[in-house]
Amino acid sequence: MELNRRTVMAGAAAAAAGIAATTVGGGTAHATGGGNDRGTGPGKPVRTPFGTLADGTKVHRWSLANGGTRLKVLSYGGIVQSLEIPDRRGRHTNVSLGFGTLEEYVASSPYFGALIGRYGNRIGKGRFSLDGTAHQLSVNDGANSLHGGAQGFDKRVWDVEPFTEGSDVGLRLYYVSADGEMGYPGTLRTKVTYTLTRHGDWRVDYAATTDRATVVNLTSHVYWNLAGESSGSVNDHELSIAATRYTPVDAGLIPTGELARVGGTPFDFRSAKPVGRDLRVAHPQVLYGQGFDHNWVLDKGVTARPGPAATLRDPSSGRTLRIATNEPGLQFYSGNFLDGTLVGTGGRVYRQGDGLCLETQHFPDSPNRPSFPSTVLRPGETYRTTTVHSFDA
Ligand code: BGC
Repeated sequence: MELNRRTVMAGAAAAAAGIAATTVGGGTAHATGGGNDRGTGPGKPVRTPFGTLADGTKVHRWSLANGGTRLKVLSYGGIVQSLEIPDRRGRHTNVSLGFGTLEEYVASSPYFGALIGRYGNRIGKGRFSLDGTAHQLSVNDGANSLHGGAQGFDKRVWDVEPFTEGSDVGLRLYYVSADGEMGYPGTLRTKVTYTLTRHGDWRVDYAATTDRATVVNLTSHVYWNLAGESSGSVNDHELSIAATRYTPVDAGLIPTGELARVGGTPFDFRSAKPVGRDLRVAHPQVLYGQGFDHNWVLDKGVTARPGPAATLRDPSSGRTLRIATNEPGLQFYSGNFLDGTLVGTGGRVYRQGDGLCLETQHFPDSPNRPSFPSTVLRPGETYRTTTVHSFDA
Protein backbone atom coordinates (compact mmCIF):
# COMPACT_ATOMS: atom_id res chain seq x y z
CA MET A 1 0.00 0.00 0.00
CA GLU A 2 1.35 3.41 -0.93
CA LEU A 3 0.62 5.21 2.32
CA ASN A 4 1.89 8.73 1.83
CA ARG A 5 5.06 8.96 3.85
CA ARG A 6 4.88 12.65 4.61
CA THR A 7 1.36 12.54 5.99
CA VAL A 8 1.97 9.29 7.85
CA MET A 9 4.96 10.79 9.60
CA ALA A 10 2.99 13.92 10.49
CA GLY A 11 0.17 11.81 11.89
CA ALA A 12 2.57 9.61 13.84
CA ALA A 13 4.25 12.63 15.38
CA ALA A 14 0.91 14.05 16.42
CA ALA A 15 -0.17 10.71 17.84
CA ALA A 16 3.08 10.45 19.78
CA ALA A 17 2.37 13.89 21.21
CA GLY A 18 -0.88 12.53 22.59
CA ILE A 19 -3.20 14.61 20.46
CA ALA A 20 -5.37 13.94 17.50
CA ALA A 21 -3.44 14.14 14.24
CA THR A 22 -3.33 17.68 12.96
CA THR A 23 -4.21 18.66 9.44
CA VAL A 24 -0.80 18.92 7.80
CA GLY A 25 0.02 18.54 4.16
CA GLY A 26 -3.66 18.22 3.50
CA GLY A 27 -3.46 19.77 0.07
CA THR A 28 -4.03 23.32 -0.96
CA ALA A 29 -7.22 25.29 -1.04
CA HIS A 30 -8.62 26.05 -4.45
CA ALA A 31 -10.47 29.25 -5.03
CA THR A 32 -12.68 27.74 -7.66
CA GLY A 33 -13.73 24.23 -8.58
CA GLY A 34 -15.53 21.73 -6.43
CA GLY A 35 -16.01 19.44 -9.37
CA ASN A 36 -18.89 19.50 -11.71
CA ASP A 37 -21.95 17.37 -11.22
CA ARG A 38 -23.09 16.95 -14.80
CA GLY A 39 -20.92 13.97 -15.62
CA THR A 40 -18.70 15.91 -18.00
CA GLY A 41 -15.55 15.39 -15.92
CA PRO A 42 -14.39 16.05 -12.40
CA GLY A 43 -13.23 19.37 -11.00
CA LYS A 44 -10.89 19.93 -8.08
CA PRO A 45 -12.08 19.49 -4.49
CA VAL A 46 -12.40 22.79 -2.63
CA ARG A 47 -11.27 23.23 0.98
CA THR A 48 -12.87 25.70 3.40
CA PRO A 49 -12.42 26.22 7.16
CA PHE A 50 -14.99 24.42 9.35
CA GLY A 51 -13.92 25.43 12.83
CA THR A 52 -11.27 24.85 15.46
CA LEU A 53 -11.08 22.15 18.14
CA ALA A 54 -10.45 22.98 21.79
CA ASP A 55 -6.74 22.10 21.38
CA GLY A 56 -6.40 24.63 18.54
CA THR A 57 -6.50 22.11 15.68
CA LYS A 58 -8.15 23.56 12.59
CA VAL A 59 -10.83 21.48 10.89
CA HIS A 60 -11.61 21.79 7.19
CA ARG A 61 -14.49 20.88 4.99
CA TRP A 62 -13.84 19.55 1.50
CA SER A 63 -16.46 19.91 -1.23
CA LEU A 64 -16.41 17.78 -4.35
CA ALA A 65 -18.86 16.76 -7.04
CA ASN A 66 -19.02 14.39 -9.96
CA GLY A 67 -21.63 12.62 -12.05
CA GLY A 68 -24.56 14.28 -10.26
CA THR A 69 -23.39 13.57 -6.69
CA ARG A 70 -22.19 16.36 -4.38
CA LEU A 71 -20.19 15.46 -1.31
CA LYS A 72 -18.95 17.48 1.68
CA VAL A 73 -16.40 15.82 3.96
CA LEU A 74 -14.81 17.02 7.21
CA SER A 75 -11.21 16.37 8.19
CA TYR A 76 -12.68 15.68 11.67
CA GLY A 77 -13.77 12.03 11.72
CA GLY A 78 -13.71 11.83 7.91
CA ILE A 79 -17.34 12.82 8.38
CA VAL A 80 -19.68 12.97 5.40
CA GLN A 81 -21.36 16.21 6.39
CA SER A 82 -23.59 16.33 3.33
CA LEU A 83 -24.26 14.08 0.36
CA GLU A 84 -26.61 15.46 -2.29
CA ILE A 85 -28.15 13.40 -5.06
CA PRO A 86 -30.94 14.19 -7.55
CA ASP A 87 -34.45 12.84 -7.50
CA ARG A 88 -36.26 11.61 -10.60
CA ARG A 89 -36.86 15.23 -11.65
CA GLY A 90 -33.23 16.19 -11.16
CA ARG A 91 -33.75 18.02 -7.86
CA HIS A 92 -30.83 17.64 -5.46
CA THR A 93 -31.23 17.15 -1.75
CA ASN A 94 -28.92 16.19 1.11
CA VAL A 95 -29.66 12.53 1.98
CA SER A 96 -27.19 12.16 4.88
CA LEU A 97 -28.02 13.21 8.45
CA GLY A 98 -25.58 15.59 10.09
CA PHE A 99 -24.94 18.93 11.72
CA GLY A 100 -24.18 22.44 10.49
CA THR A 101 -21.30 23.12 12.91
CA LEU A 102 -18.18 21.43 14.25
CA GLU A 103 -19.26 22.18 17.83
CA GLU A 104 -22.33 19.97 17.44
CA TYR A 105 -20.27 17.09 16.05
CA VAL A 106 -17.84 17.36 18.96
CA ALA A 107 -20.52 17.81 21.64
CA SER A 108 -22.63 14.75 20.91
CA SER A 109 -22.95 13.01 17.60
CA PRO A 110 -24.31 9.48 17.23
CA TYR A 111 -21.53 8.94 14.66
CA PHE A 112 -23.33 10.97 11.96
CA GLY A 113 -21.52 10.31 8.66
CA ALA A 114 -18.30 9.30 10.42
CA LEU A 115 -15.50 6.90 9.65
CA ILE A 116 -15.52 4.15 12.25
CA GLY A 117 -12.40 2.45 13.60
CA ARG A 118 -10.57 0.59 14.70
CA TYR A 119 -13.54 -1.71 15.07
CA GLY A 120 -17.03 -1.10 13.73
CA ASN A 121 -19.77 -2.15 16.17
CA ARG A 122 -19.25 -3.96 19.47
CA ILE A 123 -16.62 -6.10 21.10
CA GLY A 124 -18.08 -7.86 24.14
CA LYS A 125 -16.79 -6.44 27.45
CA GLY A 126 -14.16 -4.67 25.36
CA ARG A 127 -11.95 -7.71 25.70
CA PHE A 128 -10.27 -10.17 23.40
CA SER A 129 -7.20 -12.38 23.29
CA LEU A 130 -4.84 -12.61 20.37
CA ASP A 131 -1.91 -15.04 20.17
CA GLY A 132 -2.32 -15.71 23.90
CA THR A 133 -2.24 -12.05 24.98
CA ALA A 134 -5.36 -10.51 26.55
CA HIS A 135 -6.31 -6.97 25.51
CA GLN A 136 -8.64 -4.60 27.35
CA LEU A 137 -10.19 -1.96 25.13
CA SER A 138 -11.84 1.34 25.96
CA VAL A 139 -15.40 0.52 27.10
CA ASN A 140 -18.00 3.09 26.06
CA ASP A 141 -21.32 1.24 25.65
CA GLY A 142 -22.39 -0.29 28.95
CA ALA A 143 -19.89 -3.10 29.50
CA ASN A 144 -18.87 -3.20 25.85
CA SER A 145 -16.62 -1.36 23.42
CA LEU A 146 -18.51 0.30 20.56
CA HIS A 147 -17.09 1.71 17.31
CA GLY A 148 -13.48 1.75 18.46
CA GLY A 149 -13.99 3.04 22.01
CA ALA A 150 -14.42 6.44 23.62
CA GLN A 151 -12.10 8.26 21.18
CA GLY A 152 -12.54 6.29 18.00
CA PHE A 153 -11.56 7.29 14.46
CA ASP A 154 -14.78 9.32 14.26
CA LYS A 155 -13.23 11.81 16.73
CA ARG A 156 -9.78 12.06 15.15
CA VAL A 157 -8.56 14.65 12.72
CA TRP A 158 -7.47 13.04 9.47
CA ASP A 159 -4.87 14.24 6.98
CA VAL A 160 -6.71 14.88 3.74
CA GLU A 161 -5.26 14.91 0.22
CA PRO A 162 -7.49 15.77 -2.73
CA PHE A 163 -7.04 14.11 -6.11
CA THR A 164 -8.47 14.03 -9.60
CA GLU A 165 -7.54 10.98 -11.66
CA GLY A 166 -9.01 10.41 -15.10
CA SER A 167 -12.74 10.87 -14.67
CA ASP A 168 -12.62 10.35 -10.88
CA VAL A 169 -12.41 12.97 -8.16
CA GLY A 170 -11.77 12.22 -4.53
CA LEU A 171 -10.02 12.53 -1.21
CA ARG A 172 -7.43 10.39 0.49
CA LEU A 173 -7.72 10.43 4.27
CA TYR A 174 -4.88 9.31 6.50
CA TYR A 175 -4.78 8.55 10.18
CA VAL A 176 -2.11 6.81 12.23
CA SER A 177 -3.43 5.17 15.38
CA ALA A 178 -0.67 4.69 17.94
CA ASP A 179 0.14 1.30 19.46
CA GLY A 180 -2.18 0.88 22.44
CA GLU A 181 -4.64 3.60 21.42
CA MET A 182 -8.06 2.71 22.91
CA GLY A 183 -6.39 -0.53 24.06
CA TYR A 184 -5.71 -1.92 20.59
CA PRO A 185 -2.31 -3.46 19.92
CA GLY A 186 -0.13 -2.27 17.03
CA THR A 187 0.45 1.02 15.25
CA LEU A 188 -2.31 1.09 12.68
CA ARG A 189 -1.60 3.17 9.56
CA THR A 190 -4.95 3.83 7.97
CA LYS A 191 -5.81 5.23 4.58
CA VAL A 192 -9.41 5.73 3.45
CA THR A 193 -10.13 6.88 -0.09
CA TYR A 194 -13.43 8.56 -0.95
CA THR A 195 -13.97 8.59 -4.72
CA LEU A 196 -16.79 10.11 -6.74
CA THR A 197 -16.94 8.48 -10.15
CA ARG A 198 -18.25 10.07 -13.33
CA HIS A 199 -21.43 8.05 -12.77
CA GLY A 200 -21.90 9.73 -9.40
CA ASP A 201 -21.02 6.60 -7.40
CA TRP A 202 -19.41 7.16 -4.02
CA ARG A 203 -16.73 4.52 -3.49
CA VAL A 204 -14.94 4.00 -0.19
CA ASP A 205 -11.65 2.09 -0.18
CA TYR A 206 -10.22 1.24 3.23
CA ALA A 207 -6.60 0.21 3.73
CA ALA A 208 -4.51 -0.39 6.84
CA THR A 209 -1.22 -1.90 7.96
CA THR A 210 0.08 -2.74 11.41
CA ASP A 211 3.42 -3.40 13.10
CA ARG A 212 1.92 -5.87 15.62
CA ALA A 213 -0.87 -8.44 15.29
CA THR A 214 -4.17 -6.69 15.84
CA VAL A 215 -7.84 -6.68 14.84
CA VAL A 216 -9.44 -4.19 12.49
CA ASN A 217 -12.92 -3.61 11.06
CA LEU A 218 -13.43 -0.22 9.42
CA THR A 219 -16.74 1.17 8.21
CA SER A 220 -18.74 4.31 7.50
CA HIS A 221 -21.67 5.49 9.60
CA VAL A 222 -23.80 7.53 7.21
CA TYR A 223 -27.46 7.82 8.22
CA TRP A 224 -29.50 7.74 5.02
CA ASN A 225 -32.78 9.45 4.38
CA LEU A 226 -33.32 9.43 0.62
CA ALA A 227 -36.24 11.86 0.87
CA GLY A 228 -33.88 14.41 2.46
CA GLU A 229 -32.20 14.55 5.87
CA SER A 230 -34.86 16.74 7.45
CA SER A 231 -37.93 15.06 5.93
CA GLY A 232 -38.93 12.82 8.85
CA SER A 233 -39.20 9.05 9.10
CA VAL A 234 -37.65 6.55 6.67
CA ASN A 235 -40.32 3.95 7.50
CA ASP A 236 -41.64 4.11 3.91
CA HIS A 237 -38.24 3.49 2.32
CA GLU A 238 -38.06 0.05 0.74
CA LEU A 239 -35.06 -2.02 1.72
CA SER A 240 -33.68 -5.29 0.46
CA ILE A 241 -30.67 -7.09 1.93
CA ALA A 242 -28.99 -10.00 0.12
CA ALA A 243 -28.84 -12.17 3.23
CA THR A 244 -30.51 -15.43 4.28
CA ARG A 245 -29.11 -15.25 7.79
CA TYR A 246 -28.33 -12.71 10.48
CA THR A 247 -26.49 -12.77 13.78
CA PRO A 248 -28.94 -12.63 16.74
CA VAL A 249 -27.71 -10.71 19.77
CA ASP A 250 -28.04 -10.72 23.54
CA ALA A 251 -29.53 -7.83 25.53
CA GLY A 252 -26.21 -5.94 25.22
CA LEU A 253 -26.33 -6.32 21.41
CA ILE A 254 -23.44 -8.79 21.37
CA PRO A 255 -23.91 -11.69 18.90
CA THR A 256 -24.80 -15.01 20.50
CA GLY A 257 -22.71 -16.81 17.87
CA GLU A 258 -25.71 -18.26 16.09
CA LEU A 259 -26.30 -17.59 12.38
CA ALA A 260 -30.11 -17.59 12.34
CA ARG A 261 -32.29 -17.83 9.26
CA VAL A 262 -34.28 -14.71 8.42
CA GLY A 263 -37.18 -16.65 6.86
CA GLY A 264 -40.44 -16.11 8.74
CA THR A 265 -38.97 -13.34 10.92
CA PRO A 266 -38.98 -9.52 10.76
CA PHE A 267 -35.37 -9.85 9.59
CA ASP A 268 -36.36 -11.16 6.17
CA PHE A 269 -35.38 -8.41 3.71
CA ARG A 270 -34.55 -10.81 0.86
CA SER A 271 -37.33 -9.13 -1.13
CA ALA A 272 -37.73 -5.38 -0.82
CA LYS A 273 -40.14 -4.30 1.92
CA PRO A 274 -40.86 -1.03 3.71
CA VAL A 275 -38.48 -0.47 6.60
CA GLY A 276 -41.40 0.19 8.95
CA ARG A 277 -43.46 -2.88 8.09
CA ASP A 278 -42.05 -5.20 10.77
CA LEU A 279 -40.48 -2.62 13.09
CA ARG A 280 -43.20 -3.14 15.70
CA VAL A 281 -43.37 -6.92 15.55
CA ALA A 282 -42.91 -8.21 19.11
CA HIS A 283 -39.93 -10.41 18.23
CA PRO A 284 -37.37 -10.67 21.06
CA GLN A 285 -34.57 -9.53 18.76
CA VAL A 286 -36.52 -6.42 17.72
CA LEU A 287 -37.00 -5.64 21.40
CA TYR A 288 -33.27 -5.97 22.11
CA GLY A 289 -32.43 -3.55 19.32
CA GLN A 290 -35.45 -1.27 19.91
CA GLY A 291 -35.88 -1.88 16.20
CA PHE A 292 -33.35 -3.23 13.75
CA ASP A 293 -29.77 -3.04 14.97
CA HIS A 294 -28.28 -6.27 13.71
CA ASN A 295 -25.66 -7.74 11.44
CA TRP A 296 -26.93 -9.49 8.33
CA VAL A 297 -24.74 -12.31 7.00
CA LEU A 298 -24.43 -11.46 3.31
CA ASP A 299 -25.05 -14.53 1.14
CA LYS A 300 -22.05 -13.74 -1.04
CA GLY A 301 -19.63 -13.95 1.93
CA VAL A 302 -16.17 -12.36 1.74
CA THR A 303 -15.48 -11.60 -1.91
CA ALA A 304 -12.42 -10.36 -3.81
CA ARG A 305 -14.57 -7.71 -5.49
CA PRO A 306 -17.57 -5.80 -4.18
CA GLY A 307 -20.77 -7.80 -4.57
CA PRO A 308 -24.41 -6.80 -3.94
CA ALA A 309 -25.35 -6.19 -0.31
CA ALA A 310 -28.45 -3.97 -0.12
CA THR A 311 -30.78 -1.68 -2.03
CA LEU A 312 -32.67 1.21 -0.43
CA ARG A 313 -35.35 3.13 -2.32
CA ASP A 314 -37.53 6.09 -1.45
CA PRO A 315 -40.72 5.65 -3.48
CA SER A 316 -41.70 9.32 -3.15
CA SER A 317 -38.58 10.77 -4.82
CA GLY A 318 -37.45 7.67 -6.71
CA ARG A 319 -33.98 8.03 -5.18
CA THR A 320 -32.31 4.65 -4.95
CA LEU A 321 -29.10 3.62 -3.21
CA ARG A 322 -27.34 0.36 -4.08
CA ILE A 323 -24.54 -0.88 -1.84
CA ALA A 324 -21.90 -3.35 -2.98
CA THR A 325 -19.04 -4.52 -0.81
CA ASN A 326 -16.48 -7.26 -0.43
CA GLU A 327 -17.26 -7.43 3.29
CA PRO A 328 -19.25 -10.43 4.62
CA GLY A 329 -21.67 -8.45 6.85
CA LEU A 330 -24.02 -5.50 6.88
CA GLN A 331 -25.23 -3.75 10.03
CA PHE A 332 -28.71 -2.40 9.44
CA TYR A 333 -29.45 0.09 12.20
CA SER A 334 -32.86 1.74 11.93
CA GLY A 335 -31.92 4.93 13.81
CA ASN A 336 -33.56 3.66 17.01
CA PHE A 337 -31.66 5.86 19.42
CA LEU A 338 -32.41 9.19 17.71
CA ASP A 339 -34.56 10.68 20.41
CA GLY A 340 -35.55 14.19 19.39
CA THR A 341 -32.67 15.89 21.21
CA LEU A 342 -30.56 16.77 18.16
CA VAL A 343 -31.18 19.42 15.50
CA GLY A 344 -29.89 18.49 12.05
CA THR A 345 -28.28 20.35 9.17
CA GLY A 346 -31.64 21.51 7.86
CA GLY A 347 -32.69 23.01 11.20
CA ARG A 348 -35.18 20.27 12.02
CA VAL A 349 -35.22 17.89 15.00
CA TYR A 350 -34.17 14.27 14.38
CA ARG A 351 -36.50 11.70 15.92
CA GLN A 352 -36.42 7.91 16.10
CA GLY A 353 -36.21 6.39 12.60
CA ASP A 354 -35.47 9.65 10.75
CA GLY A 355 -32.43 7.98 9.17
CA LEU A 356 -30.96 4.50 8.88
CA CYS A 357 -27.44 3.12 8.65
CA LEU A 358 -26.20 0.36 6.38
CA GLU A 359 -22.71 -0.37 7.62
CA THR A 360 -20.63 -2.84 5.64
CA GLN A 361 -18.42 -4.78 8.00
CA HIS A 362 -17.05 -7.99 9.49
CA PHE A 363 -19.37 -9.34 12.15
CA PRO A 364 -19.56 -7.68 15.59
CA ASP A 365 -17.45 -9.31 18.32
CA SER A 366 -15.50 -11.40 15.77
CA PRO A 367 -12.31 -11.25 17.89
CA ASN A 368 -14.18 -13.44 20.44
CA ARG A 369 -15.87 -15.69 17.87
CA PRO A 370 -13.44 -18.01 16.10
CA SER A 371 -16.31 -19.28 13.91
CA PHE A 372 -16.85 -15.80 12.38
CA PRO A 373 -14.67 -14.56 9.47
CA SER A 374 -11.40 -13.33 10.95
CA THR A 375 -10.66 -9.65 11.63
CA VAL A 376 -7.00 -10.29 12.51
CA LEU A 377 -4.37 -8.20 10.72
CA ARG A 378 -0.70 -9.10 10.99
CA PRO A 379 2.50 -7.22 10.16
CA GLY A 380 3.29 -7.55 6.45
CA GLU A 381 -0.38 -7.85 5.50
CA THR A 382 -2.54 -5.05 4.14
CA TYR A 383 -6.17 -4.78 5.18
CA ARG A 384 -8.25 -3.76 2.17
CA THR A 385 -11.99 -3.48 1.78
CA THR A 386 -14.18 -1.55 -0.64
CA THR A 387 -17.78 -0.41 -0.49
CA VAL A 388 -19.49 1.21 -3.47
CA HIS A 389 -22.64 3.33 -3.09
CA SER A 390 -24.46 3.82 -6.40
CA PHE A 391 -27.35 6.21 -6.82
CA ASP A 392 -30.13 6.60 -9.25
CA ALA A 393 -33.66 7.89 -9.42
C1 BGC B 1 -24.97 0.51 16.32
C2 BGC B 1 -26.00 0.99 17.31
C3 BGC B 1 -25.50 2.27 17.93
C4 BGC B 1 -25.28 3.26 16.84
C5 BGC B 1 -24.71 4.52 17.39
C6 BGC B 1 -24.82 1.56 15.29
O1 BGC B 1 -23.87 1.17 14.35
O2 BGC B 1 -25.30 -0.72 15.76
O3 BGC B 1 -26.25 0.02 18.29
O4 BGC B 1 -26.38 2.77 18.88
O5 BGC B 1 -24.38 2.75 15.89
O6 BGC B 1 -25.23 5.61 16.77
